[in-house]
Amino acid sequence: MKKAKTILDFQRMKEGQEKISVLTAYDYPFARLMEQAGLDMILVGDSVGSVVAGYDNTLPVTMDEMVYHTRAVVRGASRTFVVADMPFLSYQVDLAEARRHAGRLIKEGGAQAVKLEGGEHVAATIRAIVDMDIPVIAHIGLTPQSIHRMGGYKVQGRQEAQARQLLADAEAVASAGAFAVVLEGIPATLAAEITAQLTIPTIGIGAGSGCDGQVLVIHDILGLCEKYSPKFVKRYADAGALISGAINDYIHEVKAGSFPGEEHSF
Ligand code: KIV
Repeated sequence: MKKAKTILDFQRMKEGQEKISVLTAYDYPFARLMEQAGLDMILVGDSVGSVVAGYDNTLPVTMDEMVYHTRAVVRGASRTFVVADMPFLSYQVDLAEARRHAGRLIKEGGAQAVKLEGGEHVAATIRAIVDMDIPVIAHIGLTPQSIHRMGGYKVQGRQEAQARQLLADAEAVASAGAFAVVLEGIPATLAAEITAQLTIPTIGIGAGSGCDGQVLVIHDILGLCEKYSPKFVKRYADAGALISGAINDYIHEVKAGSFPGEEHSF
């Protein structure tokens, strides 16, 4: 029986130049399908706030919601490495809160690792969580929890000073003990430079093909999120159209009295 990958496998994959495949999931059925397909890692992203709960951004997502979704994903993919996002305000206030909240995602959620956003300024937080033996993925560049500071979802690191800061951020989170780092919304050349500089794997989203792995939001690749479609998203299926078609057929059959048929009746 297939076993879940570990942080050692991801390190080996970087060293062997084998790309790491990651998608977000928020519930049991999607997690099952991802495990059956052989995905390397599932991220229970706080993007759940945007694509499932219908908020404008990820900021309102709570710890209890992340625990709930992580548990559902782990039940569907018990043999896949699952990472849970630390939501806004769960790690920014102080180290004790950060450690307790990271611990909840492992103990109550059943995740194998946590992810949090930020560079140099969260290095101490990453260290505090890693010191509890909880693996951490860092997330730098376009960090959605910083939407108000960034003034929107804007590509980061285009200017020289910003690019230098991102290189320093990448170094800082790796030195603090993160076992991987998500690079979001940065120029492909900068992402490739960071990937070459670091010994830990980089997972890109809107960061070009030079990263050690890629992550996308499942609702985006399936065409289930109409709100916005960033340039970096590739749509692999139009599940939205498929689902709408099924719902329409159901409505028509109920109205016409052709459902339920004999075969659906007792
Ligand atoms: O919340 C999320 O889904 C994420 C990924 C897009 C990296 O952080």
